[in-house]
Amino acid sequence: MNKIDVKSINLADTEFWKRTDREAAFAALRAELPVSWHDFPTGSPEVGQKGFWAVTRYDDVVTVSSDSKLFISGESTILGDQSIEEAQQEGWFLNMDAGDHFKLRQVVARAFSPQGVTKMTQAAQHYAATIIASVKERGECDYAREVAQPFPVEVVCDFLGAPRENRRRLHELTVTALAGDVLGADAPRAIASAFVELNDYGTQIAKEKRKNPGDDILSLVISTKVDGRALSDEEVGYFFQLLVTAGMETTGTVGGHSMKCFLEFPEQMQIWANDPQAVSSTGFEELVRWISPILHMRRTATQDTEIAGQTIRAGEKVVMWYNSANRDESKFANPNAFDVRRNPNPHLGFGGGGRHTCLGAHLARLELPFLVAETLKQLKNIEPAGDPIAVPSRFVNGLASMPIRFTAA
Ligand code: HEM
Repeated sequence: MNKIDVKSINLADTEFWKRTDREAAFAALRAELPVSWHDFPTGSPEVGQKGFWAVTRYDDVVTVSSDSKLFISGESTILGDQSIEEAQQEGWFLNMDAGDHFKLRQVVARAFSPQGVTKMTQAAQHYAATIIASVKERGECDYAREVAQPFPVEVVCDFLGAPRENRRRLHELTVTALAGDVLGADAPRAIASAFVELNDYGTQIAKEKRKNPGDDILSLVISTKVDGRALSDEEVGYFFQLLVTAGMETTGTVGGHSMKCFLEFPEQMQIWANDPQAVSSTGFEELVRWISPILHMRRTATQDTEIAGQTIRAGEKVVMWYNSANRDESKFANPNAFDVRRNPNPHLGFGGGGRHTCLGAHLARLELPFLVAETLKQLKNIEPAGDPIAVPSRFVNGLASMPIRFTAA
């Protein structure tokens, strides 16, 4: 294989994300230039804005994530520039710091705890079984589009208390909101309009929920006071927007990629199929490590500092690449082996352990293993029926299509 010239790598360029050797490129960065500068190229949505530092080693990602005073989220967590208002309207408390972040996260923290999410067990099992049953007799399907993506949409919407209608539209909007950077110059407009529609829809549901509260997350948000006051309908709408965008696309990505992994590593599929009870927990964590559904989060340095010998100036963007940390050879034995029994597995797929660590990890841990178990129970002789289609986003490791053939068990 040709040696990769680390100076030629530009993580801001969508073209980079079409490369098939991108994990090798990250390995080269980790080895030779663990903290590297990237400018926005012509044609990228952020052209003309100042670029960012990319942090690629496991320990450095943890350092950045853990120091929320030196590396803040409030100036946005995306690659491009945003005003404080825009950042909150497109990410809510994900893009806040310290007290404000803590107070808002606390409103829903208990509901997302391991105990809190167990109430979704039956629903997750039910949706997994019925979605697989709906394709089973056809002998083929697009596993990413028809199975993996709709599954968490149903679970998350039930959990939040979103009505049954419009769920497909909600999913489309979350894909544009998170992976809209693939649209190049059109991205800023498309992404902003997806967030506006999500916020408006959330605001509308908030109004209905005030009249008819239920046993769901949005009703909880409506009934909780923050700093002694009830949240406005718009603020409840922002909660909705953050939770649907964070909860649908990510888990759908794990589902779609799980099939891609199983076809690439059939012996691992067999291990999982033989004993789902024993393997689903380590198997799920390995899927998240391997896939890294969210590729990065950005912070902004508040003071001049140094990471791995590289000077970072106050005000500069620092981007943590979770996919790279998750293949860091100093942390994982055989990082390029997909091993559903890997244990321990301290991956950073849910974040680097700081205050913004994924709120929904326990919901994802609960729901996704049901989808894998039902797939392996109801479908046999699974084989590819075409090439998978990846989404060349810089933010999410999406899978648009995963055609398969199978026989019904
Ligand atoms: C396998 C699926 C998932 C993955 C890989 C994932 C990944 C992530 C990552 C990397 C972060 C940023 C962490 C940081 O900045 O330190 C995050 C934050 C977040 N995630 Fe997830 N996520 C998943 C599923 C979910 C689900 C199902 C929900 C809820 C329905 C959810 C809700 C959130 C929220 C609300 C935040 C922001 C937390 C904060 O700012 O305090 N996630 N997630």
